[in-house]
Amino acid sequence: DEVSILPGAPSKVWRYTAERIAGPTETLTPVGESYAGPLIRLRRGQRLLVRIDNELPEDTTVHWHGLHVPSDVDGQPRLPIAPATSMTLAFDVVDRAGLYWYHPHPHGPDGGRVGLQSYAGLAGPLIINDDAERALGLPDGERELVLILQDRTFSDGNELQYIGGGGMGAMMTRMRGFRGERVLVNGHPDARREVSTRPYRLRLLNGSNSRIYKLAWSDGRAVIVIGTDGGLLAEPERRRSVTLAPAQRIDLWVDFGDTEPGESVQFVSEEYQLGMMGGGGMMEQGMMGDMMDRGMMRDMMGSERIPLVTFAVVARANDSETLPERLAQDLPTSPVQADTPVRRFELGMRMMQGFTINGRRMEGTTVADDEIVRLGQTEIWEFVNDSMMPHPIHIHGLQFQIQERTGSKTDLHDGIIDAGLHDTVLVFPQERVRIALTFKNFEGLYMYHCHNMEHEDAGMMRYFKVV
Ligand code: C2O
Ligand code: CU
Ligand code: CU
Repeated sequence: DEVSILPGAPSKVWRYTAERIAGPTETLTPVGESYAGPLIRLRRGQRLLVRIDNELPEDTTVHWHGLHVPSDVDGQPRLPIAPATSMTLAFDVVDRAGLYWYHPHPHGPDGGRVGLQSYAGLAGPLIINDDAERALGLPDGERELVLILQDRTFSDGNELQYIGGGGMGAMMTRMRGFRGERVLVNGHPDARREVSTRPYRLRLLNGSNSRIYKLAWSDGRAVIVIGTDGGLLAEPERRRSVTLAPAQRIDLWVDFGDTEPGESVQFVSEEYQLGMMGGGGMMEQGMMGDMMDRGMMRDMMGSERIPLVTFAVVARANDSETLPERLAQDLPTSPVQADTPVRRFELGMRMMQGFTINGRRMEGTTVADDEIVRLGQTEIWEFVNDSMMPHPIHIHGLQFQIQERTGSKTDLHDGIIDAGLHDTVLVFPQERVRIALTFKNFEGLYMYHCHNMEHEDAGMMRYFKVV
């Protein structure tokens, strides 16, 4: 129960290190001075060849989150890389320009190790570029900032701590997922960036195990969204805040043009409260009974305000650019027709089992009759959340469109961006979300699961099969 990982200083975290054998120098760049894996930058249309050496004391895999790749190179738990062994793989980069990421995906008979391995430091960003995006002339170079949000808890000796504590704390962690006491940006607390009076492109990855962020600017300026998981939107969306669930990415435009040098603006996660939605239901299900008081419930379902990055404006720039009001031209329209089949998934909770999908948990590579889909087919998948926790649902190997969202409204709903392409969608308690997806090009096994890593590791994850 007490999983104290990584004794020693932060230098003992687990890290992806990489070396470029061939290809342009921009293929691999470090993410600041961070434990994060290097930024992998690829061009749409290229082929990537990788050798993965596992120097960890346990099995791992490398999953290319969000990428449309063949099942055998998807880094699924069914293809573990044992300690002191290597795996070589190759795939064509076919996805739209966007920010994707890579992380471990091991899952054995005793459950998953995604939460622990990612927490220990194994996660990194991957950017795909293409000509259409380049033609827009968005901020790049030092004005394109990749920001990875992760929360961590440190011991007095500055060791990373995961779950730990046993008893109530460990049970809470399993229920709501791990929440660290501090939020780090690219591995650092109190992140600060020096900027000039020009526009910047912020490319955010929520690499946290379970924490949901409500992103906003301290001076109340609008958060300008230009892209989601699967690349640029057709046009920018402006919100007072933007909701970012685990595994999701968001692409933001910010212009410091009217901020005076010497001033600074803070990028924060605002306080929010998801209330007691479904909390009564949980009591009825006998899961918690009087073990947990209302205060703990509230803490499970909300967050305080967290400063993320201070942008200090240090220089005046004379030239400036304006935000293009038309962004992507290549966004597909909805593939849904009147006869598009609907598949329904109920996100629930079972006594002694934890969270389930249609009453099931992960059982190796077992695929039920209703988890087989046809190559080339478009379907609507409907997720209905009957549990009391929000679940960020992720599907491997494709990007989908969010069609409809009905049911509960929370503090976080104003900030939800449903436009564009996504590989992870947040489904709130008492909510029903419909997405449209098409199974293209590759047959074989893929996965769908909750990307709250502790839920996933506990089995809120299943394979599906494309035939
Ligand atoms: Cu990012 Cu199956 O996960
Ligand atoms: Cu994935
Ligand atoms: Cu979940």
